[in-house]
Amino acid sequence: MSWQATVLTLFPEMFPGPLGLSLAGRALEGGVWSCTAQDLREQGLGRHRAVDDSPFGGGAGMVIRPDVVDAALDATQVPADVPRVFLTPRGRPLRQQDVQRYAQGPGLVLLCGRFEGVDERVLQSRQIEQVSVGDYVLSGGETAALVLLDACVRLLPGVMGSEESGVEESFSEGLLEYPHYTRPAVWDGQNVPEVLLSGNHAAIAAWRQTQAEEITRERRPDLWSAWLARREKNGAAAN
Ligand code: ADE
Repeated sequence: MSWQATVLTLFPEMFPGPLGLSLAGRALEGGVWSCTAQDLREQGLGRHRAVDDSPFGGGAGMVIRPDVVDAALDATQVPADVPRVFLTPRGRPLRQQDVQRYAQGPGLVLLCGRFEGVDERVLQSRQIEQVSVGDYVLSGGETAALVLLDACVRLLPGVMGSEESGVEESFSEGLLEYPHYTRPAVWDGQNVPEVLLSGNHAAIAAWRQTQAEEITRERRPDLWSAWLARREKNGAAAN
């Protein structure tokens, strides 16, 4: 059974988009995953197939109606054990561990909003998770959905080439990854770090670990604190 992505959107032409190319595209053609985009407008009301209305309480923008989302979810006929996710900057920040959990499951139903958002009641009653891909505002959830799908699909069995294992990469250990170098050994007057040319695998591994730690401490104090706390706890457990 392939991993099933179902996207509810006002712009179904945006899918699979870039995920129809490269690694994800080959996996799509090979049947490793599937991508169905459903037009929310099909559940729209009246002659104009309206999907949104003005917010109660006033304010700018429009809100997608709960009955429209409810009908669109029913129309998908996706099994109840497939997580439902609404992409929104108000959501819980997406992490690699969430991606791993989603990739291990049967697939995802992704709800993409435009306008101000979606009526809160349907998010609650249909148990829709709210997820953000970062602390910035996109013009709609579609590009966020593509980000989430890309992150999941590359983890599906057989999708990544042998050059990438998915084990040793940023976030999988809670640290950012060490820097990379290739030929030429001297470029623009700059040498590749000596240790990488030494053939000493233990020394290389130690250097990479130190680099990963320093870069994480510098760039991501949040990840660094969490990593230190985890190391402390594991050290305490080992003793
Ligand atoms: N929709 C608009 N901005 C978003 C974001 N940062 N994450 C997820 N969905 C969004």
